[in-house]
Amino acid sequence: MITCNGSGNPDAVVLGTDRRLRALSLVTEEEGALIRAYTDKHPSAMKVGNVSVLRALQGDTIKTYFLAGTEDDSKERGTFREFDRAKKIMAAAMKEDVGELAVYIDTLDMDVETLIDGLLYGNYEYNQYKTKSKSKVLKNINLITSSLKSKDFNTLCYVYSSIYEGIYFARDLVNMPPNDMTPRKFVDTATAVCTGDNIFVEVLNKWNLEKRNMGGIVSVGKGSMNPPQLLSVAYTGDPESRDVLAVVGKGITYDSGGLSLKTRAGQLNMKSDMAGAATALGIIRALMLLKYPVNVLAVMPLAENIPSGMSYHVDDVITMFDGTTVEVKNTDAEGRLVLADAVSYAQSKGAKRIIDLATLTGACVTALGSVRTGMIGNDQEFMNRFFAAAAQVNEKVWQLPADEEYERQLKSRVADISNVGGPEAGAITAGLFIKHFIQENTSWIHLDIAGTAFRDKKDENGFYGATGVGIKSVLRLLRGDK
Ligand code: BES
Ligand code: MN
Ligand code: ZN
Repeated sequence: MITCNGSGNPDAVVLGTDRRLRALSLVTEEEGALIRAYTDKHPSAMKVGNVSVLRALQGDTIKTYFLAGTEDDSKERGTFREFDRAKKIMAAAMKEDVGELAVYIDTLDMDVETLIDGLLYGNYEYNQYKTKSKSKVLKNINLITSSLKSKDFNTLCYVYSSIYEGIYFARDLVNMPPNDMTPRKFVDTATAVCTGDNIFVEVLNKWNLEKRNMGGIVSVGKGSMNPPQLLSVAYTGDPESRDVLAVVGKGITYDSGGLSLKTRAGQLNMKSDMAGAATALGIIRALMLLKYPVNVLAVMPLAENIPSGMSYHVDDVITMFDGTTVEVKNTDAEGRLVLADAVSYAQSKGAKRIIDLATLTGACVTALGSVRTGMIGNDQEFMNRFFAAAAQVNEKVWQLPADEEYERQLKSRVADISNVGGPEAGAITAGLFIKHFIQENTSWIHLDIAGTAFRDKKDENGFYGATGVGIKSVLRLLRGDK
């Protein structure tokens, strides 16, 4: 929880420290003396980006002080660097097992939104499957300030709590192990959560998908005992308008590669291959709270990519929802197959703008690592707006080229196109495969989140697992739509 100027009982406080130690006017004389003595001895504690931990006995309990250096700050507000500073403060607090944290934000010399964003980003842990666990998650973050109007401040807290409700929800879905997070489980979770007057849920099961000739989703799901599903959730915040943004998310609940089986190492963390779908649903979850007057259609093709006697084969030719025939040259290139049907479906439902999110290619991880999400699209102005929105909410994106020349790599000898484009430029050809299913008058952005959706090892702030990347950016873009 995040509160503002609450009168709770913090067991820890965050204070910004620079050479003048202005923050000391906010604490008792004793506390001030302690902090001054510490910073005299360790002047580096005042340098921007450093977080030092002090403990003092208060009555019969220990109070913890986090000194966040602000000296030599660039004075540039709301930057990725400030976001990192905020995440670092939260990492320190979680390490110390803090219950309630008081943050004297006026002493921190930071953009308030960026601060809240960074604090909430880190205040999460997935421990549903630990039988004996002590959660490190802070129960309350109390922000203390005298420089902001309480109404504005409360709005900020509400907005960010809503956004992070969506993000934590998406992270939970992704972090759940794949024996439990099946297509059916995803659908059931969505149906339970997505209720309300302006929410409409539609589920197409395997039989419905076969009847509609959704060859992509059906084929990918064929090998599994857990049948595929196509989940759509419509959020109608502006019933007067026909404008709909479709958010299409790849929902492979486990990607073993299928008959083109992945290596042992390659299979690790492939439960995260439904992160795109989780993002799409997380956006809906947040919109239900934020109540933006916009229309969003989340489309989530869900399937498990598993080898068996029932699996689709390499060399199969499958017919997609829009009639295109595709030669399957690698069953591990399954994401583009389910997405192709899903974007066709979104357009058949009237979407004129589409953003798809997918953990689509290892090639994108090779190109951009885990730092930036890869982006391609067919509308430069739309991409520019998305890029700017992403930067405003501290999400890093990078546009990849999408020249027509790359499309030749998808040529097939027997069908309209092949599902793989060879070893070169894999992130681009994967995106261009999806583009084949985008109609001329549809504005489209493809986001490859293969590197950014899941931290497979602890990062420098001790963060591990699903990130929920993409939710903030899309919500910020929608906010601009109002
Ligand atoms: N889900 C994977 C991509 C992936 C790789 C996501 C690593 C996250 C981390 C995707 O379905 C896949 O297997 N892609 C293949 C495509 C290839 C066969 C053309 C890949 O990247 O190797
Ligand atoms: Mn795959
Ligand atoms: Zn995959």
